[in-house]
Amino acid sequence: MTSGKLRLGVNIDHVATIRNARGGDHPDPVRAAEIVAACGVDGITAHLREDRRHIRDADLARIQAATGLPLNLEMAATEEMLAIALRHKPHAACIVPERREERTTEGGLDAAGQHNRLYPIVQRLRDADIRVSLFIAPEVRQIDAALQLGAPVVELHTGEYAHASGAAREAELARLADMAALAARNGIEPHAGHGLTYDNVQPVAAIPELAELNIGHYLIGEAVFVGLEAAVLRMRALMDAAR
Ligand code: PXP
Repeated sequence: MTSGKLRLGVNIDHVATIRNARGGDHPDPVRAAEIVAACGVDGITAHLREDRRHIRDADLARIQAATGLPLNLEMAATEEMLAIALRHKPHAACIVPERREERTTEGGLDAAGQHNRLYPIVQRLRDADIRVSLFIAPEVRQIDAALQLGAPVVELHTGEYAHASGAAREAELARLADMAALAARNGIEPHAGHGLTYDNVQPVAAIPELAELNIGHYLIGEAVFVGLEAAVLRMRALMDAAR
């Protein structure tokens, strides 16, 4: 059983989503990384997607240089992303599905169905001392597949749990707890993430084997509301001072 503090990795992708909506430099995800680093979080997570819809290649080195926090690079299992990971040497690489056929029903990586494609990528990341994580559905066959692949970490997909309610949510929570325990018993460090909010995080955070949660979209959304008042008041003050 893992004890002690549960690590928090903050995913800053959606700061870049807002930046890219205008094609300029603002808001800069690096500034977001600096702010969350100052809060004492344990890591920064960023997903370089094949279509670069949020984080861009040039952001990676800037994020790494800005904070000194471990970077968890989420990436598809492609040669292009592998080359980028080997060049940037993030602390961790979390392999995520990008195409429909790479996913399990829950949306996690189909590690069980893609052993031969994933194996060389996992090995090359491991050889470069990058901590490999597989973003998988909380299923026995996916944990087994992670073991076969030699992945030291799995990130359990909490999306089904987050979207369920009532008895279905309880069942999803039990599955997450069981799979976190199974992973830990087999020497794999379990993490979890996707769709976590203030309302649903605590039952997941209470699972003792989990070592880390990665949370993004909800935090960036909340930050708009927490920060909007200060931003508008500053603009008002600047306008008033100009008259
Ligand atoms: N973990 C992984 C592997 C992800 O791909 C994502 C983003 O989808 C997250 C965690 C964070 O999810 P969310 O943005 O819903 O908090």
